[in-house]
Amino acid sequence: MTDAPPPLHDSPLVRAARRQSVPHTPVWFMRQAGRSLPEYRAVREGVGMLESCRRPDLVTEITLQPVRRHGVDAAIFFSDIVVPLAAVGVHLDIVAGVGPVVAKPVRTRADLDRLPELTPEHVPYISEAVRLLVAELGDTPLIGFAGAPFTLASYLVEGGPSKNHEHTKALMYGDPQLWHDLCARLAQISGEFLRVQAAAGASAVQLFDSWVGALPRTDYERFVQPHSAAALAAVGGLDVPKIHFGVGTGELLASMGAAGADVVGVDFRVSLTDAVARLGDRYAVQGNLDPALLFAPWEALEAKVRSIVEEGKAAPGHIFNLGHGVLPSTDPDVLTRVVELVHEVSAR
Ligand code: CP3
Repeated sequence: MTDAPPPLHDSPLVRAARRQSVPHTPVWFMRQAGRSLPEYRAVREGVGMLESCRRPDLVTEITLQPVRRHGVDAAIFFSDIVVPLAAVGVHLDIVAGVGPVVAKPVRTRADLDRLPELTPEHVPYISEAVRLLVAELGDTPLIGFAGAPFTLASYLVEGGPSKNHEHTKALMYGDPQLWHDLCARLAQISGEFLRVQAAAGASAVQLFDSWVGALPRTDYERFVQPHSAAALAAVGGLDVPKIHFGVGTGELLASMGAAGADVVGVDFRVSLTDAVARLGDRYAVQGNLDPALLFAPWEALEAKVRSIVEEGKAAPGHIFNLGHGVLPSTDPDVLTRVVELVHEVSAR
């Protein structure tokens, strides 16, 4: 065992998340580690996605690649939201170009009974990879993450990616008790997955509720928020800021903050100015460049980046990011230029 890593309380990312002053706006990109990088495609050659997530040497290399290349202010742990589900025995695969596919959807009480709680012993390769990474990263913070109960439930209940989440909503409304019990189990799994990463040295965590924008606020508060709150509470004692993100969640921003976040992620459909108006001064914000704009001419992109940095200055804390993940065909050099530009125009 090496010495415990230094806490990175003074890094721009952690300071912004805590609504403290920063030397520049910190920037990282959702899906920064992945298919937009040729060096990623090279190391993944012939290795399945889930297998790569279980190999600490590969996880370390892939997580470091965008930090080396772009000079971002944080690393995001290379894994996937379904890794802890596979770890507790759910038969699933991550299919390239599709996403997670579950062999047998979870729709009954008997299905739930076959879904055990997660313990650290299920994921020894996660703690090991986090420890290796923290040693390599020096003063760059590592963000650990997990999928939120609703988004995980959607994959499990639908059996794969879904546009309308019809089986998920049918279960939520048709058998609320089973829904709540399923989400409570998923909150335990997510929360423990976050806790393992934070305990091994991650400096912040992000809870991804990517698909929860499919719900109106009243349903969010009744069927989802208590479970996301439980997942976030699992790292409550660990002194790591908590980021909470979803897509199409303009109507849910305040409720997602109230689930126990320090930072609320904002997608590109809501301006940061509007997001701050909805959130007040209790939360920092993260976002929100449309990933498709990385394909626009540089002058147009530059103007948009500048305006997002400007809007972010009115927030109590701002972490620059995309409004959703990097698209696979993005030119990585454009990402590097965006990092340089954010640092330059936000330098205080
Ligand atoms: O760079 C990073 O952001 C870190 C790694 C990361 C991955 N998945 C790697 C990955 C993170 C944070 C995730 C989270 C994740 N996974 C989410 C939440 C974020 C979001 O995008 O909303 C969701 C919904 C998933 C489920 C999932 N896994 C999807 C939708 C896909 C993409 C399917 C595809 O191929 O288009 C995956 C697979 C996946 N996860 C890949 C990567 C790098 C692609 C795998 C490959 O190389 O084939």
